[in-house]
Amino acid sequence: MKFQEIKNGIYYCGLNDCDRKIFDELIPLENGTTYNSYLVKGSEKTAIIDTMYPKMTDIYLKNLDDNGIKKVDYIIENHGEQDHSGSIPALLKKFPEALVITNAKVAENIISMVGVSEEKIKIVGNNDELSLGDKTLQFILSPGVHWPDTMFTYIKEDNVLATCDFLGAHYTFSDVFAVKSEELTKSAKRYYAEIMMPFRMMCKKYTQLVKDMQVDMILPSHGPIYKNPEYILDLYSDWTSDTPKNLVVMPYVSMYGSTESMINYLSDKLESRGIKTFKYDIIDGDLGDLAMHLVDAATIVLGTSMVLAGPHPASVNIAYLASVLRPKAKFAALIGSYGWGGKLFDLIGQLLAPLKLDVVAEPLQVKGKPKPEDFKKLDLIVDSIAEKHKSLGYDMQIL
Ligand code: FEO
Repeated sequence: MKFQEIKNGIYYCGLNDCDRKIFDELIPLENGTTYNSYLVKGSEKTAIIDTMYPKMTDIYLKNLDDNGIKKVDYIIENHGEQDHSGSIPALLKKFPEALVITNAKVAENIISMVGVSEEKIKIVGNNDELSLGDKTLQFILSPGVHWPDTMFTYIKEDNVLATCDFLGAHYTFSDVFAVKSEELTKSAKRYYAEIMMPFRMMCKKYTQLVKDMQVDMILPSHGPIYKNPEYILDLYSDWTSDTPKNLVVMPYVSMYGSTESMINYLSDKLESRGIKTFKYDIIDGDLGDLAMHLVDAATIVLGTSMVLAGPHPASVNIAYLASVLRPKAKFAALIGSYGWGGKLFDLIGQLLAPLKLDVVAEPLQVKGKPKPEDFKKLDLIVDSIAEKHKSLGYDMQIL
Protein backbone atom coordinates (compact mmCIF):
# COMPACT_ATOMS: atom_id res chain seq x y z
CA MET A 1 0.00 0.00 0.00
CA LYS A 2 1.40 3.36 -1.02
CA PHE A 3 1.22 5.85 1.82
CA GLN A 4 -1.06 8.79 1.11
CA GLU A 5 0.46 12.23 1.70
CA ILE A 6 -1.91 14.21 3.87
CA LYS A 7 -0.02 17.46 3.79
CA ASN A 8 3.55 18.53 3.06
CA GLY A 9 5.60 15.49 4.17
CA ILE A 10 2.95 14.06 6.50
CA TYR A 11 1.75 10.61 5.42
CA TYR A 12 -1.01 8.27 6.53
CA CYS A 13 0.52 4.88 7.33
CA GLY A 14 -2.37 3.33 9.28
CA LEU A 15 -4.57 0.38 8.40
CA ASN A 16 -8.23 -0.46 7.96
CA ASP A 17 -9.58 -3.37 9.98
CA CYS A 18 -12.81 -4.15 8.13
CA ASP A 19 -13.20 -7.56 9.76
CA ARG A 20 -13.31 -6.41 13.35
CA LYS A 21 -16.86 -6.76 14.64
CA ILE A 22 -16.46 -5.80 18.29
CA PHE A 23 -14.21 -3.45 20.26
CA ASP A 24 -13.08 -3.99 23.84
CA GLU A 25 -15.21 -7.16 23.70
CA LEU A 26 -18.14 -4.83 24.36
CA ILE A 27 -18.88 -2.50 21.49
CA PRO A 28 -20.33 -3.85 18.21
CA LEU A 29 -18.60 -2.20 15.24
CA GLU A 30 -20.93 -1.40 12.34
CA ASN A 31 -18.16 -0.14 10.11
CA GLY A 32 -15.01 -1.90 11.33
CA THR A 33 -12.27 0.40 12.53
CA THR A 34 -8.92 1.84 11.58
CA TYR A 35 -5.69 2.14 13.51
CA ASN A 36 -4.17 5.37 12.33
CA SER A 37 -0.47 6.01 12.26
CA TYR A 38 1.24 9.02 10.73
CA LEU A 39 4.70 9.36 9.25
CA VAL A 40 6.14 12.87 9.53
CA LYS A 41 9.21 13.62 7.42
CA GLY A 42 11.12 16.68 8.55
CA SER A 43 14.22 18.04 6.81
CA GLU A 44 16.45 16.35 9.42
CA LYS A 45 14.44 13.78 11.34
CA THR A 46 11.54 11.43 10.73
CA ALA A 47 8.85 10.64 13.26
CA ILE A 48 5.94 8.22 13.46
CA ILE A 49 2.93 9.38 15.45
CA ASP A 50 1.19 6.39 17.10
CA THR A 51 1.77 2.83 15.99
CA MET A 52 -0.46 -0.17 15.40
CA TYR A 53 -2.79 -2.80 16.86
CA PRO A 54 -0.55 -5.79 17.71
CA LYS A 55 -2.33 -8.27 15.42
CA MET A 56 -1.62 -6.07 12.39
CA THR A 57 2.04 -5.40 13.12
CA ASP A 58 3.39 -7.55 10.28
CA ILE A 59 1.33 -5.77 7.60
CA TYR A 60 2.23 -2.41 9.14
CA LEU A 61 5.97 -3.14 9.03
CA LYS A 62 5.75 -4.52 5.50
CA ASN A 63 4.05 -1.31 4.37
CA LEU A 64 6.88 0.72 5.87
CA ASP A 65 9.32 -1.42 3.85
CA ASP A 66 7.25 -1.14 0.68
CA ASN A 67 7.28 2.63 1.04
CA GLY A 68 11.06 2.70 1.43
CA ILE A 69 11.15 3.91 5.02
CA LYS A 70 14.73 3.18 6.07
CA LYS A 71 15.05 5.36 9.14
CA VAL A 72 12.75 6.50 11.92
CA ASP A 73 14.19 8.76 14.60
CA TYR A 74 11.19 9.20 16.87
CA ILE A 75 8.09 7.23 17.74
CA ILE A 76 5.59 9.67 19.21
CA GLU A 77 3.14 7.87 21.48
CA ASN A 78 0.05 9.91 22.30
CA HIS A 79 -1.62 7.19 24.38
CA GLY A 80 -0.55 3.89 25.91
CA GLU A 81 -3.50 1.66 25.01
CA GLN A 82 -2.36 -1.34 22.99
CA ASP A 83 -4.27 -0.57 19.79
CA HIS A 84 -1.79 2.31 19.33
CA SER A 85 1.22 1.17 21.29
CA GLY A 86 1.19 -2.56 20.49
CA SER A 87 3.71 -2.37 17.67
CA ILE A 88 6.30 -0.22 19.45
CA PRO A 89 8.56 -3.18 20.36
CA ALA A 90 8.57 -4.40 16.74
CA LEU A 91 9.24 -0.88 15.47
CA LEU A 92 12.13 -0.45 17.88
CA LYS A 93 13.57 -3.73 16.65
CA LYS A 94 13.29 -2.53 13.06
CA PHE A 95 14.59 0.96 13.81
CA PRO A 96 16.95 0.47 16.78
CA GLU A 97 18.12 4.08 16.66
CA ALA A 98 14.59 5.38 17.33
CA LEU A 99 13.50 6.90 20.63
CA VAL A 100 9.96 6.80 21.96
CA ILE A 101 8.78 10.31 22.79
CA THR A 102 5.88 10.47 25.19
CA ASN A 103 4.61 11.76 28.52
CA ALA A 104 5.29 10.18 31.90
CA LYS A 105 1.92 8.43 32.19
CA VAL A 106 2.11 6.82 28.75
CA ALA A 107 5.69 5.78 29.55
CA GLU A 108 4.52 3.96 32.65
CA ASN A 109 1.81 2.21 30.61
CA ILE A 110 3.94 1.12 27.66
CA ILE A 111 6.65 -0.19 29.97
CA SER A 112 4.18 -2.42 31.78
CA MET A 113 1.70 -3.20 29.00
CA VAL A 114 3.85 -3.74 25.90
CA GLY A 115 7.30 -4.18 27.42
CA VAL A 116 9.10 -1.08 26.08
CA SER A 117 12.37 -0.61 27.94
CA GLU A 118 12.74 2.56 29.95
CA GLU A 119 16.01 3.62 28.33
CA LYS A 120 14.29 3.86 24.93
CA ILE A 121 11.82 6.47 26.20
CA LYS A 122 12.25 10.24 26.37
CA ILE A 123 9.65 11.93 28.55
CA VAL A 124 8.06 15.22 27.48
CA GLY A 125 5.80 17.60 29.36
CA ASN A 126 2.96 19.90 28.39
CA ASN A 127 3.85 22.22 25.48
CA ASP A 128 7.36 20.76 25.09
CA GLU A 129 8.64 20.83 21.54
CA LEU A 130 10.71 18.54 19.36
CA SER A 131 12.38 19.66 16.15
CA LEU A 132 12.43 17.52 13.02
CA GLY A 133 14.34 20.27 11.15
CA ASP A 134 11.77 22.24 9.21
CA LYS A 135 8.93 20.84 11.31
CA THR A 136 8.26 21.25 15.01
CA LEU A 137 6.18 18.87 17.06
CA GLN A 138 4.50 20.30 20.14
CA PHE A 139 2.99 18.03 22.76
CA ILE A 140 -0.21 19.04 24.50
CA LEU A 141 -1.20 16.94 27.49
CA SER A 142 -4.92 16.14 27.40
CA PRO A 143 -5.56 13.80 30.32
CA GLY A 144 -9.01 12.26 30.43
CA VAL A 145 -9.86 11.90 26.73
CA HIS A 146 -10.10 9.05 27.40
CA TRP A 147 -7.27 7.74 29.62
CA PRO A 148 -5.26 9.69 32.16
CA ASP A 149 -2.25 9.37 29.83
CA THR A 150 -3.62 10.96 26.64
CA MET A 151 -1.90 13.80 24.79
CA PHE A 152 -2.11 15.53 21.42
CA THR A 153 0.76 16.20 19.01
CA TYR A 154 0.64 19.48 17.10
CA ILE A 155 2.69 19.88 13.94
CA LYS A 156 3.21 23.60 14.16
CA GLU A 157 4.35 24.59 10.68
CA ASP A 158 1.50 22.64 9.08
CA ASN A 159 -1.16 23.61 11.64
CA VAL A 160 -2.20 19.97 11.98
CA LEU A 161 -3.21 18.29 15.24
CA ALA A 162 -3.02 14.56 16.00
CA THR A 163 -5.60 13.95 18.71
CA CYS A 164 -5.28 10.18 19.18
CA ASP A 165 -8.61 8.65 20.31
CA PHE A 166 -10.25 12.04 20.85
CA LEU A 167 -12.54 13.04 17.93
CA GLY A 168 -12.18 9.59 16.37
CA ALA A 169 -14.65 7.15 14.87
CA HIS A 170 -14.73 3.43 14.27
CA TYR A 171 -15.11 3.84 10.53
CA THR A 172 -13.09 2.34 7.71
CA PHE A 173 -12.42 4.26 4.53
CA SER A 174 -10.83 4.24 1.10
CA ASP A 175 -10.13 7.98 1.16
CA VAL A 176 -8.48 9.13 4.39
CA PHE A 177 -10.30 12.46 4.38
CA ALA A 178 -13.69 12.69 6.06
CA VAL A 179 -16.66 13.41 3.85
CA LYS A 180 -19.67 14.67 5.76
CA SER A 181 -22.33 11.97 5.82
CA GLU A 182 -25.04 10.58 8.05
CA GLU A 183 -23.15 7.31 8.31
CA LEU A 184 -19.92 8.95 9.52
CA THR A 185 -21.82 11.18 11.94
CA LYS A 186 -23.49 8.09 13.37
CA SER A 187 -20.20 6.22 13.71
CA ALA A 188 -18.56 9.19 15.40
CA LYS A 189 -21.51 9.49 17.79
CA ARG A 190 -21.47 5.79 18.63
CA TYR A 191 -17.73 6.09 19.31
CA TYR A 192 -18.22 9.19 21.46
CA ALA A 193 -21.03 7.51 23.42
CA GLU A 194 -19.07 4.42 24.26
CA ILE A 195 -15.58 5.79 24.72
CA MET A 196 -15.72 9.48 25.49
CA MET A 197 -19.10 10.14 27.15
CA PRO A 198 -17.92 9.01 30.61
CA PHE A 199 -15.45 11.93 30.35
CA ARG A 200 -17.90 14.46 28.97
CA MET A 201 -16.56 17.45 30.86
CA MET A 202 -12.98 16.77 29.73
CA CYS A 203 -14.25 16.31 26.17
CA LYS A 204 -16.01 19.65 26.42
CA LYS A 205 -12.83 21.33 27.64
CA TYR A 206 -10.66 19.87 24.88
CA THR A 207 -13.27 20.50 22.18
CA GLN A 208 -12.99 24.19 23.02
CA LEU A 209 -9.20 24.01 23.17
CA VAL A 210 -9.04 22.48 19.68
CA LYS A 211 -11.59 25.00 18.39
CA ASP A 212 -9.47 27.83 19.74
CA MET A 213 -6.37 26.44 18.03
CA GLN A 214 -8.09 26.83 14.62
CA VAL A 215 -6.14 23.94 13.15
CA ASP A 216 -6.35 23.10 9.45
CA MET A 217 -6.68 19.37 10.03
CA ILE A 218 -7.50 16.92 12.79
CA LEU A 219 -5.69 13.59 12.65
CA PRO A 220 -7.42 11.14 15.00
CA SER A 221 -6.21 7.61 15.69
CA HIS A 222 -9.43 5.94 14.51
CA GLY A 223 -11.49 6.92 11.47
CA PRO A 224 -10.96 9.55 8.82
CA ILE A 225 -8.94 12.75 8.94
CA TYR A 226 -10.87 16.01 9.17
CA LYS A 227 -9.82 18.68 6.68
CA ASN A 228 -13.04 20.29 7.85
CA PRO A 229 -12.44 20.30 11.65
CA GLU A 230 -15.66 22.20 12.36
CA TYR A 231 -17.63 19.10 11.25
CA ILE A 232 -16.48 16.95 14.16
CA LEU A 233 -15.95 19.85 16.59
CA ASP A 234 -19.52 21.10 16.18
CA LEU A 235 -20.82 17.58 16.81
CA TYR A 236 -18.74 17.37 19.98
CA SER A 237 -20.02 20.76 21.12
CA ASP A 238 -23.55 19.40 20.82
CA TRP A 239 -22.87 16.02 22.43
CA THR A 240 -20.93 17.48 25.35
CA SER A 241 -23.40 20.28 26.08
CA ASP A 242 -25.06 20.23 29.50
CA THR A 243 -28.60 20.38 28.13
CA PRO A 244 -30.26 17.08 27.22
CA LYS A 245 -32.75 16.81 24.39
CA ASN A 246 -36.51 16.22 24.63
CA LEU A 247 -35.97 12.46 24.53
CA VAL A 248 -36.86 9.51 26.78
CA VAL A 249 -34.74 6.38 26.42
CA MET A 250 -36.60 3.22 27.42
CA PRO A 251 -34.50 0.06 27.80
CA TYR A 252 -36.58 -2.92 28.82
CA VAL A 253 -36.56 -6.69 29.18
CA SER A 254 -39.90 -8.47 29.17
CA MET A 255 -40.31 -12.23 29.66
CA TYR A 256 -44.08 -12.52 29.05
CA GLY A 257 -44.90 -9.17 27.45
CA SER A 258 -46.26 -7.33 30.52
CA THR A 259 -43.30 -4.98 30.94
CA GLU A 260 -43.21 -4.44 27.18
CA SER A 261 -46.90 -3.49 27.16
CA MET A 262 -46.23 -0.85 29.83
CA ILE A 263 -43.24 0.50 27.91
CA ASN A 264 -45.37 0.71 24.76
CA TYR A 265 -48.14 2.47 26.68
CA LEU A 266 -45.71 5.01 28.15
CA SER A 267 -44.04 5.56 24.79
CA ASP A 268 -47.35 6.21 22.99
CA LYS A 269 -48.51 8.64 25.67
CA LEU A 270 -45.18 10.49 25.78
CA GLU A 271 -45.06 10.77 21.99
CA SER A 272 -48.60 12.19 22.03
CA ARG A 273 -47.28 14.93 24.31
CA GLY A 274 -44.51 15.78 21.85
CA ILE A 275 -41.73 13.90 23.64
CA LYS A 276 -39.53 11.66 21.52
CA THR A 277 -38.95 8.15 22.82
CA PHE A 278 -36.49 5.40 22.01
CA LYS A 279 -37.62 1.92 23.03
CA TYR A 280 -34.73 -0.49 23.42
CA ASP A 281 -35.25 -4.25 23.73
CA ILE A 282 -32.33 -5.22 25.94
CA ILE A 283 -32.20 -8.80 24.69
CA ASP A 284 -32.19 -8.07 20.95
CA GLY A 285 -30.76 -4.55 20.85
CA ASP A 286 -27.37 -3.27 19.79
CA LEU A 287 -25.64 -1.65 22.78
CA GLY A 288 -24.24 1.02 20.49
CA ASP A 289 -27.76 2.21 19.61
CA LEU A 290 -28.62 2.49 23.28
CA ALA A 291 -25.39 4.34 24.07
CA MET A 292 -25.96 6.80 21.20
CA HIS A 293 -29.44 7.67 22.45
CA LEU A 294 -28.11 8.10 25.97
CA VAL A 295 -25.91 10.92 24.63
CA ASP A 296 -29.03 13.08 24.25
CA ALA A 297 -31.71 11.68 26.57
CA ALA A 298 -33.25 13.79 29.33
CA THR A 299 -34.98 10.79 30.91
CA ILE A 300 -34.33 7.07 31.28
CA VAL A 301 -37.29 4.73 31.84
CA LEU A 302 -36.01 1.27 32.72
CA GLY A 303 -38.42 -1.67 32.48
CA THR A 304 -37.67 -5.12 33.79
CA SER A 305 -39.18 -8.49 34.42
CA MET A 306 -38.38 -10.34 37.62
CA VAL A 307 -36.14 -13.42 37.65
CA LEU A 308 -36.38 -15.36 40.90
CA ALA A 309 -36.82 -12.58 43.46
CA GLY A 310 -34.90 -9.79 41.75
CA PRO A 311 -34.54 -7.85 38.52
CA HIS A 312 -33.73 -9.70 35.31
CA PRO A 313 -29.90 -9.88 35.07
CA ALA A 314 -30.00 -8.27 31.61
CA SER A 315 -31.61 -5.15 33.07
CA VAL A 316 -28.98 -5.10 35.83
CA ASN A 317 -26.31 -5.09 33.15
CA ILE A 318 -27.94 -2.11 31.43
CA ALA A 319 -28.27 -0.17 34.70
CA TYR A 320 -24.57 -0.78 35.34
CA LEU A 321 -23.62 0.20 31.79
CA ALA A 322 -25.65 3.40 32.02
CA SER A 323 -23.98 4.29 35.30
CA VAL A 324 -20.47 3.88 33.86
CA LEU A 325 -21.26 5.71 30.59
CA ARG A 326 -22.44 8.68 32.69
CA PRO A 327 -24.96 10.24 30.31
CA LYS A 328 -26.31 13.73 31.03
CA ALA A 329 -29.87 12.44 31.66
CA LYS A 330 -31.62 14.15 34.55
CA PHE A 331 -34.75 12.10 35.23
CA ALA A 332 -35.71 8.44 35.61
CA ALA A 333 -38.66 6.15 36.09
CA LEU A 334 -38.64 2.44 36.90
CA ILE A 335 -41.35 -0.03 35.96
CA GLY A 336 -41.64 -3.80 35.84
CA SER A 337 -43.63 -6.94 36.31
CA TYR A 338 -43.25 -9.96 38.58
CA GLY A 339 -44.73 -13.44 39.02
CA TRP A 340 -44.62 -14.62 42.62
CA GLY A 341 -42.80 -11.94 44.57
CA GLY A 342 -39.55 -10.14 45.29
CA LYS A 343 -37.96 -6.73 44.82
CA LEU A 344 -37.39 -5.35 41.34
CA PHE A 345 -35.78 -2.01 41.95
CA ASP A 346 -33.43 -2.06 44.94
CA LEU A 347 -30.39 -3.26 43.02
CA ILE A 348 -31.20 -1.20 39.93
CA GLY A 349 -31.63 1.90 42.08
CA GLN A 350 -28.23 1.29 43.69
CA LEU A 351 -26.57 0.85 40.31
CA LEU A 352 -28.11 4.03 38.88
CA ALA A 353 -27.38 6.08 42.03
CA PRO A 354 -24.11 7.58 40.71
CA LEU A 355 -26.11 9.32 37.96
CA LYS A 356 -28.05 11.29 40.61
CA LEU A 357 -31.23 11.02 38.53
CA ASP A 358 -34.42 12.60 39.77
CA VAL A 359 -36.85 9.63 39.96
CA VAL A 360 -40.10 11.21 38.81
CA ALA A 361 -42.59 8.81 40.43
CA GLU A 362 -42.83 5.83 42.76
CA PRO A 363 -41.33 2.81 40.90
CA LEU A 364 -44.17 0.70 39.55
CA GLN A 365 -43.99 -3.04 40.23
CA VAL A 366 -46.97 -4.87 38.72
CA LYS A 367 -48.04 -8.48 39.33
CA GLY A 368 -48.47 -10.10 35.94
CA LYS A 369 -50.31 -7.91 33.43
CA PRO A 370 -50.97 -4.22 34.17
CA LYS A 371 -54.53 -3.56 35.45
CA PRO A 372 -56.62 -0.38 35.09
CA GLU A 373 -55.16 1.01 38.35
CA ASP A 374 -51.65 0.38 37.00
CA PHE A 375 -52.43 2.33 33.83
CA LYS A 376 -53.50 5.24 36.05
CA LYS A 377 -50.06 5.08 37.68
CA LEU A 378 -48.43 4.97 34.26
CA ASP A 379 -50.41 8.09 33.34
CA LEU A 380 -48.96 9.80 36.41
CA ILE A 381 -45.46 8.84 35.27
CA VAL A 382 -46.22 10.41 31.87
CA ASP A 383 -47.48 13.58 33.58
CA SER A 384 -44.36 13.80 35.72
CA ILE A 385 -41.99 13.29 32.81
CA ALA A 386 -43.88 15.91 30.77
CA GLU A 387 -43.63 18.40 33.65
CA LYS A 388 -39.91 17.73 34.07
CA HIS A 389 -39.22 18.14 30.36
CA LYS A 390 -41.22 21.35 30.36
CA SER A 391 -38.95 22.58 33.16
CA LEU A 392 -36.02 22.12 30.74
CA GLY A 393 -37.68 24.56 28.39
CA TYR A 394 -39.31 22.15 25.98
CA ASP A 395 -42.68 23.16 24.71
CA MET A 396 -45.19 20.34 25.22
CA GLN A 397 -48.71 19.49 26.01
CA ILE A 398 -49.46 19.22 29.72
CA LEU A 399 -52.85 17.55 30.12
FE1 FEO B 1 -7.82 3.62 20.49
FE2 FEO B 1 -7.76 4.21 23.85
O1 FEO B 1 -7.28 3.36 22.26
